[in-house]
Amino acid sequence: MNTASIASKASEKTTRSIDSSTVKSSGLFITFEGMDGSGKTTQMHRLAARLRALGRTVLETAEPGGPPVAMQIRRILLDSANSELSPTTEVLLYFASRAQNVDQWILPALERGEIVLSDRFTDSSLVYQGMGRNLGAETVAALERIACRGLKPHLTLLVDVDAEASLARARARNAAAPHCETRLDDESIEFHKRVWQAYHELARREPERVKVVDGRADLDSIERAVWEIVSAYV
Ligand code: TYD
Repeated sequence: MNTASIASKASEKTTRSIDSSTVKSSGLFITFEGMDGSGKTTQMHRLAARLRALGRTVLETAEPGGPPVAMQIRRILLDSANSELSPTTEVLLYFASRAQNVDQWILPALERGEIVLSDRFTDSSLVYQGMGRNLGAETVAALERIACRGLKPHLTLLVDVDAEASLARARARNAAAPHCETRLDDESIEFHKRVWQAYHELARREPERVKVVDGRADLDSIERAVWEIVSAYV
Protein backbone atom coordinates (compact mmCIF):
# COMPACT_ATOMS: atom_id res chain seq x y z
CA MET A 1 0.00 0.00 0.00
CA ASN A 2 2.88 2.35 0.77
CA THR A 3 4.18 2.52 -2.74
CA ALA A 4 3.74 5.28 -5.23
CA SER A 5 3.73 4.61 -8.92
CA ILE A 6 5.98 7.29 -10.23
CA ALA A 7 7.35 7.65 -13.66
CA SER A 8 10.85 8.99 -13.32
CA LYS A 9 13.53 8.38 -10.79
CA ALA A 10 14.13 11.38 -8.55
CA SER A 11 17.58 12.85 -8.80
CA GLU A 12 19.39 15.77 -7.25
CA LYS A 13 18.52 17.78 -10.32
CA THR A 14 15.36 19.83 -10.19
CA THR A 15 14.62 19.41 -13.87
CA ARG A 16 14.57 16.17 -15.78
CA SER A 17 13.17 14.72 -18.93
CA ILE A 18 9.86 12.88 -18.99
CA ASP A 19 10.34 9.16 -18.66
CA SER A 20 7.54 6.66 -18.96
CA SER A 21 9.21 3.93 -16.92
CA THR A 22 7.75 3.24 -13.49
CA VAL A 23 9.65 3.03 -10.23
CA LYS A 24 8.31 2.19 -6.80
CA SER A 25 8.90 4.40 -3.81
CA SER A 26 8.60 3.40 -0.19
CA GLY A 27 7.08 6.69 1.01
CA LEU A 28 3.49 7.56 1.74
CA PHE A 29 1.73 10.42 -0.03
CA ILE A 30 -1.34 11.91 1.62
CA THR A 31 -3.22 14.94 0.35
CA PHE A 32 -5.77 17.21 1.99
CA GLU A 33 -8.53 18.64 -0.16
CA GLY A 34 -11.56 20.80 0.48
CA MET A 35 -13.13 24.16 -0.10
CA ASP A 36 -11.39 27.36 0.96
CA GLY A 37 -11.79 27.85 4.69
CA SER A 38 -12.57 24.15 5.32
CA GLY A 39 -9.91 23.91 8.03
CA LYS A 40 -7.83 21.36 6.08
CA THR A 41 -4.58 23.27 6.69
CA THR A 42 -4.98 23.10 10.47
CA GLN A 43 -5.78 19.40 10.24
CA MET A 44 -2.76 18.73 8.06
CA HIS A 45 -0.46 20.41 10.62
CA ARG A 46 -2.04 18.40 13.43
CA LEU A 47 -1.54 15.17 11.50
CA ALA A 48 2.09 16.08 10.79
CA ALA A 49 2.69 16.68 14.50
CA ARG A 50 1.20 13.29 15.40
CA LEU A 51 3.28 11.48 12.81
CA ARG A 52 6.47 13.25 13.92
CA ALA A 53 5.69 12.31 17.52
CA LEU A 54 5.71 8.70 16.30
CA GLY A 55 9.19 9.25 14.90
CA ARG A 56 8.20 9.54 11.25
CA THR A 57 9.87 12.02 8.91
CA VAL A 58 7.23 14.25 7.36
CA LEU A 59 7.43 16.75 4.51
CA GLU A 60 4.58 19.28 4.51
CA THR A 61 3.80 21.22 1.38
CA ALA A 62 0.93 23.39 0.15
CA GLU A 63 -0.17 24.07 -3.41
CA PRO A 64 0.11 26.24 -5.29
CA GLY A 65 3.60 26.54 -3.87
CA GLY A 66 6.29 24.50 -2.19
CA PRO A 67 9.81 25.23 -3.47
CA PRO A 68 10.79 28.88 -4.12
CA VAL A 69 10.05 28.79 -7.87
CA ALA A 70 6.59 27.37 -7.16
CA MET A 71 6.02 30.11 -4.56
CA GLN A 72 6.71 32.70 -7.25
CA ILE A 73 4.08 31.08 -9.46
CA ARG A 74 1.69 31.11 -6.48
CA ARG A 75 1.96 34.88 -6.22
CA ILE A 76 0.81 35.28 -9.83
CA LEU A 77 -2.04 32.82 -9.35
CA LEU A 78 -3.57 34.19 -6.19
CA ASP A 79 -2.99 37.92 -6.57
CA SER A 80 -6.41 39.58 -6.80
CA ALA A 81 -4.83 42.16 -9.16
CA ASN A 82 -4.51 39.44 -11.83
CA SER A 83 -8.19 39.21 -12.66
CA GLU A 84 -7.42 38.96 -16.39
CA LEU A 85 -5.70 35.52 -16.10
CA SER A 86 -7.42 33.29 -18.66
CA PRO A 87 -8.65 29.84 -17.53
CA THR A 88 -6.03 28.14 -19.73
CA THR A 89 -3.18 30.25 -18.36
CA GLU A 90 -4.46 29.58 -14.87
CA VAL A 91 -4.51 25.78 -15.22
CA LEU A 92 -1.06 25.77 -16.86
CA LEU A 93 0.37 27.80 -13.99
CA TYR A 94 -1.14 25.50 -11.35
CA PHE A 95 0.50 22.56 -13.11
CA ALA A 96 3.77 24.46 -13.56
CA SER A 97 3.86 25.02 -9.81
CA ARG A 98 2.98 21.34 -9.24
CA ALA A 99 5.65 20.03 -11.64
CA GLN A 100 8.30 21.97 -9.70
CA ASN A 101 6.97 20.70 -6.38
CA VAL A 102 6.83 17.09 -7.62
CA ASP A 103 10.36 17.17 -9.04
CA GLN A 104 12.09 19.18 -6.36
CA TRP A 105 10.35 18.16 -3.15
CA ILE A 106 7.71 15.42 -3.36
CA LEU A 107 9.36 12.64 -5.39
CA PRO A 108 12.72 12.92 -3.63
CA ALA A 109 11.02 12.76 -0.21
CA LEU A 110 8.94 9.73 -1.22
CA GLU A 111 12.01 8.00 -2.53
CA ARG A 112 13.72 8.61 0.81
CA GLY A 113 10.78 6.74 2.34
CA GLU A 114 9.27 9.79 4.03
CA ILE A 115 5.64 10.75 4.50
CA VAL A 116 4.56 13.65 2.30
CA LEU A 117 1.50 15.69 3.28
CA SER A 118 0.21 18.12 0.69
CA ASP A 119 -2.39 20.81 1.28
CA ARG A 120 -4.08 20.41 -2.14
CA PHE A 121 -2.79 18.57 -5.22
CA THR A 122 -4.14 17.55 -8.64
CA ASP A 123 -7.68 17.01 -7.34
CA SER A 124 -7.85 20.78 -6.74
CA SER A 125 -7.11 21.41 -10.41
CA LEU A 126 -9.78 18.90 -11.38
CA VAL A 127 -12.49 20.52 -9.27
CA TYR A 128 -11.53 24.23 -9.59
CA GLN A 129 -10.24 24.40 -13.18
CA GLY A 130 -11.74 21.24 -14.72
CA MET A 131 -15.21 21.71 -13.25
CA GLY A 132 -15.31 25.21 -11.73
CA ARG A 133 -13.90 26.82 -14.87
CA ASN A 134 -15.45 24.17 -17.16
CA LEU A 135 -12.11 23.24 -18.78
CA GLY A 136 -13.05 19.57 -18.43
CA ALA A 137 -11.49 16.52 -16.80
CA GLU A 138 -9.59 15.55 -19.97
CA THR A 139 -7.55 18.76 -20.01
CA VAL A 140 -6.60 18.22 -16.39
CA ALA A 141 -5.74 14.57 -16.99
CA ALA A 142 -3.50 15.52 -19.94
CA LEU A 143 -1.59 18.07 -17.85
CA GLU A 144 -1.36 15.63 -14.95
CA ARG A 145 0.41 13.13 -17.20
CA ILE A 146 3.03 15.77 -18.04
CA ALA A 147 3.47 17.37 -14.62
CA CYS A 148 3.04 14.41 -12.25
CA ARG A 149 3.97 11.49 -14.52
CA GLY A 150 1.82 8.98 -12.70
CA LEU A 151 2.27 10.26 -9.16
CA LYS A 152 -1.06 10.00 -7.34
CA PRO A 153 -1.78 10.27 -3.64
CA HIS A 154 -2.21 6.99 -1.74
CA LEU A 155 -4.86 8.67 0.36
CA THR A 156 -6.83 11.90 0.08
CA LEU A 157 -8.74 13.44 2.97
CA LEU A 158 -11.60 15.62 1.80
CA VAL A 159 -12.45 18.00 4.65
CA ASP A 160 -16.01 18.80 3.80
CA VAL A 161 -17.81 22.11 4.30
CA ASP A 162 -20.45 23.41 1.93
CA ALA A 163 -19.96 26.31 -0.47
CA GLU A 164 -21.80 28.89 1.64
CA ALA A 165 -19.86 28.07 4.82
CA SER A 166 -16.63 28.01 2.85
CA LEU A 167 -17.11 31.46 1.33
CA ALA A 168 -18.25 32.94 4.64
CA ARG A 169 -15.17 31.57 6.43
CA ALA A 170 -12.76 32.63 3.68
CA ARG A 171 -14.19 36.15 3.55
CA ALA A 172 -14.15 36.48 7.35
CA ARG A 173 -10.51 35.41 7.33
CA ASN A 174 -9.68 37.95 4.64
CA ALA A 175 -11.50 40.70 6.52
CA ALA A 176 -9.66 39.90 9.76
CA ALA A 177 -6.27 39.83 8.04
CA PRO A 178 -6.52 41.63 4.70
CA HIS A 179 -4.15 40.26 2.04
CA CYS A 180 -4.01 40.12 -1.74
CA GLU A 181 -4.35 36.31 -2.22
CA THR A 182 -8.09 36.47 -2.74
CA ARG A 183 -8.52 35.95 -6.49
CA LEU A 184 -10.49 32.72 -6.08
CA ASP A 185 -12.37 33.81 -2.95
CA ASP A 186 -13.73 36.61 -5.14
CA GLU A 187 -15.51 34.06 -7.40
CA SER A 188 -19.31 33.67 -7.36
CA ILE A 189 -21.22 31.27 -5.13
CA GLU A 190 -22.17 29.30 -8.29
CA PHE A 191 -18.48 28.69 -8.99
CA HIS A 192 -17.91 27.44 -5.44
CA LYS A 193 -21.00 25.19 -5.66
CA ARG A 194 -19.64 23.57 -8.82
CA VAL A 195 -16.39 22.96 -6.96
CA TRP A 196 -18.22 21.37 -4.02
CA GLN A 197 -20.20 19.11 -6.33
CA ALA A 198 -17.07 18.08 -8.19
CA TYR A 199 -15.37 17.11 -4.91
CA HIS A 200 -18.31 14.90 -4.01
CA GLU A 201 -18.41 13.26 -7.42
CA LEU A 202 -14.71 12.51 -7.04
CA ALA A 203 -15.28 10.93 -3.61
CA ARG A 204 -18.07 8.77 -5.07
CA ARG A 205 -15.88 7.72 -8.00
CA GLU A 206 -12.78 6.91 -5.94
CA PRO A 207 -14.02 5.80 -2.51
CA GLU A 208 -10.88 3.75 -1.81
CA ARG A 209 -8.60 6.78 -2.08
CA VAL A 210 -10.80 9.76 -1.22
CA LYS A 211 -12.20 9.76 2.32
CA VAL A 212 -14.67 12.43 3.38
CA VAL A 213 -14.33 13.97 6.85
CA ASP A 214 -17.01 16.30 8.25
CA GLY A 215 -15.40 19.76 8.37
CA ARG A 216 -18.23 21.24 10.46
CA ALA A 217 -17.24 19.29 13.56
CA ASP A 218 -14.94 20.79 16.21
CA LEU A 219 -11.20 20.69 15.52
CA ASP A 220 -10.44 17.85 17.96
CA SER A 221 -13.20 15.64 16.54
CA ILE A 222 -11.97 16.23 13.00
CA GLU A 223 -8.42 15.42 14.10
CA ARG A 224 -9.65 12.12 15.59
CA ALA A 225 -11.57 11.26 12.42
CA VAL A 226 -8.49 11.98 10.32
CA TRP A 227 -6.32 9.82 12.56
CA GLU A 228 -8.77 6.92 12.45
CA ILE A 229 -8.31 6.85 8.69
CA VAL A 230 -4.59 7.57 8.49
CA SER A 231 -3.50 5.18 11.24
CA ALA A 232 -4.36 2.26 8.96
CA TYR A 233 -1.68 3.49 6.54
CA VAL A 234 1.26 4.08 8.88
P1 TYD B 1 -4.84 29.21 -0.48
O1 TYD B 1 -4.69 30.60 0.01
O2 TYD B 1 -3.67 28.30 -0.42
O3 TYD B 1 -6.11 28.66 0.23
P2 TYD B 1 -6.61 27.30 0.79
O4 TYD B 1 -6.30 27.38 2.25
O5 TYD B 1 -8.06 27.31 0.48
O6 TYD B 1 -5.90 26.16 0.09
O7 TYD B 1 -5.40 29.30 -1.96
C1 TYD B 1 -5.33 28.33 -2.89
C2 TYD B 1 -6.41 28.64 -3.90
O8 TYD B 1 -6.05 28.11 -5.17
C3 TYD B 1 -7.74 28.04 -3.53
O9 TYD B 1 -8.77 28.98 -3.78
C4 TYD B 1 -7.90 26.88 -4.49
C5 TYD B 1 -7.08 27.30 -5.66
N1 TYD B 1 -6.49 26.19 -6.42
C6 TYD B 1 -6.96 25.92 -7.69
O10 TYD B 1 -7.89 26.58 -8.18
N2 TYD B 1 -6.38 24.91 -8.41
C7 TYD B 1 -5.35 24.18 -7.93
O11 TYD B 1 -4.83 23.28 -8.61
C8 TYD B 1 -4.86 24.48 -6.60
C9 TYD B 1 -3.72 23.72 -6.02
C10 TYD B 1 -5.47 25.50 -5.89
